[in-house]
Amino acid sequence: MDDLLHLARTMMVRAYAPYSKFHVGAAVRDEDGGIHGGCNVENAAYPQGLCAEAGAIAALVAAGKKRVLECVVIGLGPEVITPCGGCRQKLREFAADDMKIHLCGPDGLHRTVTLGMLLPMSFGPQHFG
Ligand code: THU
Repeated sequence: MDDLLHLARTMMVRAYAPYSKFHVGAAVRDEDGGIHGGCNVENAAYPQGLCAEAGAIAALVAAGKKRVLECVVIGLGPEVITPCGGCRQKLREFAADDMKIHLCGPDGLHRTVTLGMLLPMSFGPQHFG
């Protein structure tokens, strides 16, 4: 978890968020223990912005990996950050219900939840048999 948090922090600093000013970093662990990070990348055409989790998942897939075994999300602000609905579904594609998501702030870990807690009764690859 420390390695993921360290990478996610670095990602958060690099976020491109001139519109919301809300920097988010994410890091995911793959099935071989490697870690991959992403940050939010906003756009003047607002809906084209990308979430940090999406970037981390894209990096994992681009590295030839297939599973997300653990995840850290870190954001600034007083509230504990949780992945948005779309990112929960994106994680679901590559992770099981018991995958741990560590929700972090600048001061470190706030809470650990599972993907199943955030996205119960999810639709996923298993529906295709
Ligand atoms: N954001 C993320 O990167 N991940 C989330 O799970 C929540 C929201 C970003 C999107 C946008 O750039 C900014 O945070 C404000 O919504």
